[in-house]
Amino acid sequence: MAATFAQFETQVLFRQPTLAFVLGSGMSHVPAGFQEESAISFADVPGLTGSSVKGHSGQIALGTCVDRPILLFRGRLHYYEGHSWETVGRPVTMAAGWGIQHLILTNAAGGIRHDLNPGSLMALTNHFGWLSPTAWKTQVNSGSPRPSIYSQRLIALMVATDPEIAQGVYGGVTGPCYETPAEIHALHAAGADAVGMSTVHEAITAQELGVEVGGLSLITNKAAGLTGEKLNHKEVLETAKKQELRLSKLIENLCRS
Ligand code: 6GU
Repeated sequence: MAATFAQFETQVLFRQPTLAFVLGSGMSHVPAGFQEESAISFADVPGLTGSSVKGHSGQIALGTCVDRPILLFRGRLHYYEGHSWETVGRPVTMAAGWGIQHLILTNAAGGIRHDLNPGSLMALTNHFGWLSPTAWKTQVNSGSPRPSIYSQRLIALMVATDPEIAQGVYGGVTGPCYETPAEIHALHAAGADAVGMSTVHEAITAQELGVEVGGLSLITNKAAGLTGEKLNHKEVLETAKKQELRLSKLIENLCRS
């Protein structure tokens, strides 16, 4: 652990990582080959607060993955935890300020499309947000059209590493409640292949700051109403644990390229 934020930031600026990952629910332990050099808890970072969601350790780590310096955001801040949209986007603005040029946003999501089952991985081709109507703006707030937030290069790299990876559209909702079956049907009709409570705002923020963005959903369960089963956060974490090796391999390959 770095003793202070100033020390951590100095180490980051010295190592100059250009690639960062935001690791979603239950994914804090990947990639397996990560060699940590320094880490700081969100609670010790000005403008961030400790994450309250189980399975999110709320930490920024600097280290190497296949000999490349990278940053890992272990966990993220969600709107449903009571943070402003500005705070939700702050890890991304910080990363961009440190010189990060490529950012992979991972998340745990519910599968809506029939082929997306627990354990499936889905590279995001696009997203839409059914987020809180609270006015939110990004740092730049350019209002420019966003035909392709997610980098084709990163999608191709992910699919080349793991041909089983699906591709699809992420429907972002505010949470914290899981959806009703009626909402899932509405999301499906609107074109969502998977649903989750993060990523959209971070991706837009990154794009506005000129950072190349990749998105990856780990499907941890079928969305509400698609099976008879109840959803719970424990199931999300267990599924994430089972996919750790596959995720590690994928992340290591992204670090290599
Ligand atoms: Cl079914 N919904 C939402 N909003 N987030 C999820 C999920 C479902 N499964 C995992 N994360």
